[in-house]
Amino acid sequence: MWVLLSLVTCLLATSKASLIGRCELAKVLHQAELDGLEGYSLSDWLCLAFVESNFNISKVNENVDGSFDYGIFQINSHYWCNDYKSHSENLCHVDCQGLAKPSISAFLNCAKMIVSGSEGMKSWVAWRLYCSDRPLSYWMTGCHLE
Ligand SMILES: *[C@@H]1O[C@H](CO)[C@@H](O)[C@H](O)[C@H]1NC(C)=O
Repeated sequence: MWVLLSLVTCLLATSKASLIGRCELAKVLHQAELDGLEGYSLSDWLCLAFVESNFNISKVNENVDGSFDYGIFQINSHYWCNDYKSHSENLCHVDCQGLAKPSISAFLNCAKMIVSGSEGMKSWVAWRLYCSDRPLSYWMTGCHLE
């Protein structure tokens, strides 16, 4: 059963390269030890990925202030990463383009840094609006972490 599921996930992954499956993302986040970090569960992260990018790793979005948001968590170029297009604090010391690719570790480290800040996951406005104070455990339905 698991082999079959993995195969299906893999086939889906190749046909829509920019999308990551919900449970696949849960596994990646679990392996990177984001589960429970600063009190946020995997369901919080999955809800965040959904409302920010609809699980699209390649998503790039321009903001009204001229900055850009990158990747599955829509990490902002004004504060967190450098896209060499406009002024950036580059607090994560990473290239934004790397955050919009499936090179998972750079963006996970950046996400960890953001969530560890004073605002926590509230740094993401969409999380505050659509995920905070809501029942979220259904995001993990059917996901097996091992
Ligand atoms: C993902 O985002 C990229 C860049 O914004 C876009 O070109 C692509 O069509 C999106 N993929 C899907 C499956 O929506």
